[in-house]
Amino acid sequence: MTQVGIIGAGPAGLMLSHLLHRQGIASVVLERRPRDYVERRVRAGVLEQGSTDLLASTGMGERMTREGLVHDGIKLRFAGEQHRIDFRQLTGRGITVYGQQEVVKDLIQRRLADAGEIWFEAEAIAIEGIEDDRPRIAYRRQGEQANLSCDFVAGCDGSHGVARTGLEAKSYERSYPFAWLGILAKTPPASDELIYAYHERGFALHSMRSPELSRLYLQVDADDTTDAWPQARIWDELRLRLAEPKLQPGEIIDKGITPMRCLVTEPMQRGRLFLAGDAAHIVPATGAKGMNLALADVKVLAEALTAWYRSRSRDLLDRYSDLCLRRVWRAEHFSAWMTALLHRDPTGDPFDHKLRLAYLRYVVTSEAAATTLAENYVGFDPSSPSPLRGRSGRG
Ligand code: APR
Ligand code: PHB
Repeated sequence: MTQVGIIGAGPAGLMLSHLLHRQGIASVVLERRPRDYVERRVRAGVLEQGSTDLLASTGMGERMTREGLVHDGIKLRFAGEQHRIDFRQLTGRGITVYGQQEVVKDLIQRRLADAGEIWFEAEAIAIEGIEDDRPRIAYRRQGEQANLSCDFVAGCDGSHGVARTGLEAKSYERSYPFAWLGILAKTPPASDELIYAYHERGFALHSMRSPELSRLYLQVDADDTTDAWPQARIWDELRLRLAEPKLQPGEIIDKGITPMRCLVTEPMQRGRLFLAGDAAHIVPATGAKGMNLALADVKVLAEALTAWYRSRSRDLLDRYSDLCLRRVWRAEHFSAWMTALLHRDPTGDPFDHKLRLAYLRYVVTSEAAATTLAENYVGFDPSSPSPLRGRSGRG
């Protein structure tokens, strides 16, 4: 028995548990994988200022501040040209490159130090009674089945979780006919900033994790397998598409293919079940929004649950989904926009290629277009006050 039953020990579930603990609210996190697996899973690693602020202001910023790489812009390469989008100059803000699994490691360490309950290798199999006062999570652990009773259930179980099936919600989806092959390689980053490259052969991205580790991605076909991409082919293709002479091949220590898709579940809640992070919405990785959305969701959810425990007021809880979805849809739009801007159309339509080059040239020459990219990349809050709002009739 606990107050909040949380399914999933990714950034969403762990951060929610941490935020609730800070308000004196007990939770149990059920995670179907072992700790080691969760801590090693390589994912994206870009944090917006809002995410770094949230981590730092809740005591989770120490290692991130020391090891995270603060970037003030990105490079865009296409048609033999290189351009820089200067986030700092255009928006006054930057981003921090800090791997998702580092955030996860920090949170696990902290939760355990605070005597938090994370049950690894415990798989939620069903959620019952979400319309009642006392919902239950049926789970399996060490071959045994049991129930966890709680006041609320937080479904933070990622894109393949069970929690979403407990809602009577509408799903909005899009899948792309291409995927990303991602590698983590023991080679020093060839650039001090991320390089996003559009090439006739497809998209490529140069990111990094530390002065010794690079994270690199290639657009591949949706049905490609990692077997079709031996080391030599990966490095040849990266060299071609990124056109970065300083990039040296190094030992590949992780390799995986991530599908590119969008999904939004509306509403993100029903009764006493609330979804957060990838369980509720998926963005294509081009805009690097996944972890940021997950952290922003649980900030709102923790505030709403705190209000309920303080005063038994359901007002914020009832508005949870609405409070999140504006930001989610802004990020979906931006991620789809960045994806369309930078990926080769698999049919190879030459008109489409020319349009894309024209759009890229516009983005790097018009301050308005560059600002659109920059302000969304560093994190745009659609509910924050804007000077433009006063001008329209509806305020
Ligand atoms: N029972 C218990 N745990 C489960 C179950 C289940 N039935 N199903 C899934 N899980 C666990 C997964 O093993 C995973 O550890 O839920 C966790 C979900 O974590 P993430 O996939 O990291 O999702 P989230 O916390 O929403 O993180 C959002 O962070 O790194 C980014 O790309 C990532 O966009 C994603 C973001
Ligand atoms: C990463 O570093 O893993 C990364 C960076 C930027 C993206 C996606 C992933 O858009």
